[in-house]
Amino acid sequence: MRYIEWQEWMATGVPLIDADHKVLISLINQVHGCIGDLQEASRLGDVLRALDDYTDHHFRREERLAEEVGFPGLAGHKALHAHLTAQVREMIHRYDMMPGSVRAVDVQSFLERWLIDHVCRHDVAIRKYALGREDAEAIAATAGITDIRDNSATQRFDWAALNVLVVDDNSNFVSLMETVLKGVGIGQVLTAKSAVEGFEILGRQPIDVVLTDWQMIGADGMDFAKSIRLSLDPLISNVGIMMVSGHGTEGFQQKAMLSGADDFMIKPISVRDLLQGLARIVNARRN
Ligand SMILES: [Fe+2]
Ligand SMILES: [Fe+2]
Repeated sequence: MRYIEWQEWMATGVPLIDADHKVLISLINQVHGCIGDLQEASRLGDVLRALDDYTDHHFRREERLAEEVGFPGLAGHKALHAHLTAQVREMIHRYDMMPGSVRAVDVQSFLERWLIDHVCRHDVAIRKYALGREDAEAIAATAGITDIRDNSATQRFDWAALNVLVVDDNSNFVSLMETVLKGVGIGQVLTAKSAVEGFEILGRQPIDVVLTDWQMIGADGMDFAKSIRLSLDPLISNVGIMMVSGHGTEGFQQKAMLSGADDFMIKPISVRDLLQGLARIVNARRN
């Protein structure tokens, strides 16, 4: 087994779709990175959910594009997407029942075979219909799990204008969040390995939402949130805070909110739920 790389011959001719394929390859490589890891089972749970969300995001975009450009194989293509989605969800179901029963090596090998075959044999077939369509990129961008309305409920939430800071001493989780949040189009995704490092970044540049882990070595997420709220700089004290925890420990929700967090989530995180949470926090703080 090896890490895979996106190659020029995988190009579909639509940069947004190619960018999605690169994100999917990165996620498959993150599955590869789980192989033999002491934390293989818990890491794999996070990556599988991110894969489920990102494939959903990508398939929606690609199907919208294929439909708009009049791709004649749309129905069959949708069926292939639905089949993969069902297989990934079956893996997640098995994982939820018994985490050790799903092995990263098998998931990686299955996904790698599927993706390369699908992109090279099926996705590239859309290319000739999209070629010459200057609006192809814009069409693809209208679909996806980021289609969340703004406060007005008429405008789409502007993800490109958002700055998010991810703070976690678990570098695998940071890397996963960075991959998917950048992939779905968030303008800037910064990362920090500790509350101290996160606070330094907040002092340097405007951030809309901090996504912070609760349990970290050194200052934990609760202390970090309290320091943010006590800051004399309004640009720091008013930042949105999403607290996350690896365990649904009793009292976590109450402690998170009392420390100054706007919202909280338990890992493994659904990217779709996270995006909705981020939009909610930003909308509330803008009012
Ligand atoms: Fe496809
Ligand atoms: Fe695709």
